[in-house]
Amino acid sequence: MNKNNVYIETYGCQMNFADTELVMGILKNKGFEVAKEIGDANIILLNTCSIRDNAEQKIHSRLEHLRGNKRRNPNAVIGILGCMAERLRKDLIEEKKIVDLVVGPDEYRRLPEFIDAAYGGEKGIGVKLSRTETYDDITPYREDGLSAWISVMRGCDKFCTFCVVPFTRGRERSRALESIAAEVAQLSSRGFKEITLLGQNVNSYNDNGKDFADLLAACAVAAPTMRIRFSTSHPQDLSDKLLYTIAEHDNLCNYIHLPVQSGSNVILEKMNRTYTIEHYHTIIDKARKIIPGVSFSTDIIAGFPTETDEDHKMTLEVMRKVRYDGAYMFKYSPREGTKAYDMGDDVPEEVKSKRLNEIIDLQQQISWEVNQALIGTEDTILIEGTSKKSEDFLAGRTDTNKICIIPRKDEIKIGDYVKVKINRATSATLFGDVA
Ligand code: SAH
Ligand code: SF4
Ligand code: F3S
Repeated sequence: MNKNNVYIETYGCQMNFADTELVMGILKNKGFEVAKEIGDANIILLNTCSIRDNAEQKIHSRLEHLRGNKRRNPNAVIGILGCMAERLRKDLIEEKKIVDLVVGPDEYRRLPEFIDAAYGGEKGIGVKLSRTETYDDITPYREDGLSAWISVMRGCDKFCTFCVVPFTRGRERSRALESIAAEVAQLSSRGFKEITLLGQNVNSYNDNGKDFADLLAACAVAAPTMRIRFSTSHPQDLSDKLLYTIAEHDNLCNYIHLPVQSGSNVILEKMNRTYTIEHYHTIIDKARKIIPGVSFSTDIIAGFPTETDEDHKMTLEVMRKVRYDGAYMFKYSPREGTKAYDMGDDVPEEVKSKRLNEIIDLQQQISWEVNQALIGTEDTILIEGTSKKSEDFLAGRTDTNKICIIPRKDEIKIGDYVKVKINRATSATLFGDVA
């Protein structure tokens, strides 16, 4: 086995997946190689997430499992990257004897150095956060494909009281517009068909006065045949200019992920979300006027400290009113070091579960209804591959981010845009025929 073969497992959000490609870019520049199988790798890195306790528990049990790898190959280097590295720092090395290096999101340039040191038997920790690091000059390592991610900013300054991200990823900073647009054009010429621009709060993107709408417009023009998506939008910073920009460019997708978190103003204030539910509805209404057919998804937390049944009902009410196309729904998980942690975790586990189930059931019903209403309509899908369930079908995605299944035809290839007519739908999937 080549001692410079690296295998990275990635957990958490899309930004972590994008960071893994950056890390591979950095390592490949220094002569390391990407291993496809963990068994072929001498260096095993876990790019981790801290957002909820269960995300961290997954890593703890993964590390238990990796003890076996280290026993079989004592020269193996095992490293923790990402948000958990930043949050737990040296505790990881002290508690987990098999961990050789712990490197946080702003110190990836030093990874080759840490790996060399680990070969010399030295444990390494790099967890300084930076106000300026955007890895702007690093070309991420990407396999050829259909979709690519680009991080356009790093960090978060919002400090929602429940969230670890401002502590694990540091202060907000934006990559240069020109270099992002150039990367989009280059990915388009390599055959990619879809780009997702990523940031914890893309609407506060700022490159010397150029805002996120300017960036989207520049990317739309740089790659006119590519679909451009983005995530995540914070309701506070979503501007009219951004909505008009999405409406103006055909290849900017009509889909907005706009996390609401709760329907209760009392809870929103305790979460430090900085908007009221009335303001949130105003944005949704405006977006629907400016971008006809726009779809929305959201994030919702059940059981935030002090949440009453009344507060919970207000969350269900918002869901009924907005009628989201989809939602990511979570039980509140207390994170040490955050403001909400000091509020206690006073909603009992059974109540949290009950509320979360009600939220999930309601969203399932709404998604089903929203999709039924699409039966008989036409849309254009981008073909992503064969359907997971059957070789006889192809799977694509609408501009509004819904999966659509159509019968296979030999002339239709991955990466084609196909006009379809929807003839059936479930809460998660549309089924159609070539129109
Ligand atoms: N920056 C994005 C979200 C990043 S985290 C935004 O602000 O929208 C993704 C989602 O995880 C959050 O929207 C929130 O719903 C959820 N989340 C974050 N911290 C959490 C916690 N402590 N417990 C439960 N869910 C949490
Ligand atoms: Fe966390 Fe709030 Fe920042 Fe999102 S906006 S990453 S929820 S602090
Ligand atoms: Fe998790 Fe860090 Fe992303 S905590 S959600 S990997 S920013």
